[in-house]
Parts: sequence; C-alpha cells; structure tokens
Amino acid sequence: SEKQEVSITFVKANGERIKAKGNVGDTILDIVVNNEIDLDGYGACEGTLTCSTCHLIFSKEVYDALPDKPTDEELDMLDLAYELTDTSRLGCQIVMTKKLDGIEVRVPSTINDARA
Ligand code: FES
Repeated sequence: SEKQEVSITFVKANGERIKAKGNVGDTILDIVVNNEIDLDGYGACEGTLTCSTCHLIFSKEVYDALPDKPTDEELDMLDLAYELTDTSRLGCQIVMTKKLDGIEVRVPSTINDARA
C-alpha cells in the first residue's frame, strides 16, 4: 500500500518555521519524533496522555477540521498546559489525515510537564 505523504509546518514562539513531512495515520507527535524536530521537551510522555508537553495551538479553521474531538482525558491534560487557548490540542492525539495536509500549528513558548 502506498503511503500518503502529508506536510505540516510548526511555528515556534520566536517565529521560526519548521516544515516537516509525515504520512496519513501519523500523529503530530510521530512527525516531531520521526523528523527529530528540535522542540524542547516536546512529547515527554511519548503519547500516553500524562504530560501536556505536546500542546499545540491551531487556527480556528484547522481546529474545527480536526477529525476527532478531544476525549475527557485529553481535556484534563490540556487544563495543565501553559498558554491554553480555545483552539489548543495535544499533538499526540491528533492523527494526520489527507485533509490536514499543509496545516500550520503554533508551538507555545513554554511547556508544562505535568508529571513533574
Ligand atoms: Fe504527553 Fe501528549 S506526549 S500528553
């Protein structure tokens, strides 16, 4: 089966833009890890919904287009994230679809490792 490639651009708080490629079915955390993107502390719990370090901020348009609504577990963890917005999600819970190809996501300037 052919992999369907998607791209995503991470916009850091300092304005730096990092474009990365992944595949449909990857989580955004997978893409960060697979591309060895340098986001300090990102994804500390490896997607087990216990850290909130994978917090990302989406545009309203993209947020509304995300395939899955956040679970209660994700919402509980998001409550612990710094710089929380109405369009915040945890990157480890977002699975890339073809529709999300080319999106931009904002990386908050500070992260909270809720395990600490
Ligand atoms: Fe820890 Fe997403 S990587 S909650």
